[in-house]
Amino acid sequence: MFARTLAEDAELRPLEPWQAAEFAEYTDRVREDIEQYIPWARAVVDEETARAFLQAYAERQARDEGRIYGIWVDGVLEGGTLFRTFNPAQGVCEVGVWLSAGARGRGLITTAVRVMIDWAFGVRGMHRVEWLCDPRNAASAAVAERLGMTCEGVMRQAFVLHGDRRDVQVWAVLGEEWKTA
Ligand SMILES: CC(C)(COP(=O)(O)OP(=O)(O)OC[C@H]1O[C@@H](n2cnc3c(N)ncnc32)[C@H](O)[C@@H]1OP(=O)(O)O)[C@@H](O)C(=O)NCCC(=O)NCCS
Repeated sequence: MFARTLAEDAELRPLEPWQAAEFAEYTDRVREDIEQYIPWARAVVDEETARAFLQAYAERQARDEGRIYGIWVDGVLEGGTLFRTFNPAQGVCEVGVWLSAGARGRGLITTAVRVMIDWAFGVRGMHRVEWLCDPRNAASAAVAERLGMTCEGVMRQAFVLHGDRRDVQVWAVLGEEWKTA
């Protein structure tokens, strides 16, 4: 019902449990391409698991602890963004993203995350927005850099994904830096 225009043919909208079938179909379509970096790509395998995943985010949103959005290009779900964590008491949140290969290279993610960060700082008074990625994920790090985030370092072997222990590169932007940027 509510949408933000990202480009002439692309919109950012809330992604909700009633869209489970569409999200399951999307995940099937892109799993092979994104599972290397996206934990839920293997957990969402059908409509039921898609609904459980989106329901968990709906409950996080109700508690003000997280949010999830989809990106539709020409009306077809092609990606998304989330506040994986959102902690108003601390003023700290983390953003995550994914996009179908065919929709990359147009700045849709950078534009969508700008909308989210504007909201986090401008409306919610957050202090710090974080971006965590695998140091090998150059496309993800490039988004953080393009947004003006600072690379603060690497947490070594801090995350297990699909049985594989990974380093985690930490990027962040502070509210005062976002204002001046
Ligand atoms: C990470 C990921 C979402 C980045 O997608 P992306 O399309 O490169 O990101 P953006 O939408 O910000 O687009 C940036 C690209 O569009 C170009 N671009 C064109 N117009 C632009 C604009 N108006 N604004 C910004 N960039 C623009 C940029 O130059 C850049 O292209 P380049 O990579 O050739 O330099 C994508 O690679 C992905 O889904 N990977 C798999 C999942 C994943 O790794 N998620 C992150 C986990 S931490």
